[in-house]
Amino acid sequence: MARTPLIAGNWKMNKTVAEAVSFAHDLLPRVEGLNKVEVAVCPPATALHAMGEVLAGSKVALGAQDMFWAEQGAFTGMISPLMLKEVGCKYVIIGHSERRGRFGKPDETLNSETARVFGDTDASVNLKVKAALAHDLVPIVCVGEMLDERDAGNTDAVVEKQIKAGLEGVSPEQVAGMVIAYEPVWAIGTGRACDAEEANRVIGVIRRVVGEAFGQETAQRLRIQYGGSMSEKNAHELLSQPEIDGGLVGGASLDVSRFTLIVQAASVIAKEVSS
Ligand code: 13P
Repeated sequence: MARTPLIAGNWKMNKTVAEAVSFAHDLLPRVEGLNKVEVAVCPPATALHAMGEVLAGSKVALGAQDMFWAEQGAFTGMISPLMLKEVGCKYVIIGHSERRGRFGKPDETLNSETARVFGDTDASVNLKVKAALAHDLVPIVCVGEMLDERDAGNTDAVVEKQIKAGLEGVSPEQVAGMVIAYEPVWAIGTGRACDAEEANRVIGVIRRVVGEAFGQETAQRLRIQYGGSMSEKNAHELLSQPEIDGGLVGGASLDVSRFTLIVQAASVIAKEVSS
């Protein structure tokens, strides 16, 4: 089954509103004519509204980096699915390892205290996934192992647990329409992407787990991206893998030229496969 790849930029805590709007104006003409690829940009919450106005009706979809599951209430600092819909979001990233408090670079400013502050768990991920789906937002659910888990041979078990717990109680039809991003934590922001064949293998494991829980048809329709130091240099090799349906791009998505090259790679590969 042909799945349209999705290249999504996760800007994390980068770019002012002015910078975000300027990027959107620059990106649109570069990707407007590209076929067989979907594109999304996930700016910080402050830039969502302004970017939503620039991207409305265009080839590039808008995504948020996180949300809370309630519609409104006394939840200081949180943003609800209703608010994301209002500003034009189609996608919302859920359970990114940085939100789960699973960091690849422990020597940075992030430490056990900040981890506790962010603190997404499989249970909160599940609540957010259900809330996103209930509000017609497409969740991009992030899973992936830390380096010590990989070294201990636990990669497959870790992603299996995250998938099963994160998608509990979701219908097969809903799972088919969402996106999963396999992001090995040790590959995020390190410049050391996962080997393409190994990323393909783990994504195959994720598809098998989804197939066992939700049926083969659902597993074949579900898009599963790779994320972790994807760049214009390694995108072609990663995106050529049969199980990899696009990328969740961090650092390289901040530069419009680099991001465009990754989108172009996905479009070319998708055409090669289908022709
Ligand atoms: P990098 O591409 O900077 O490694 O970040 C990946 C990521 O975390 C995307 O969500």
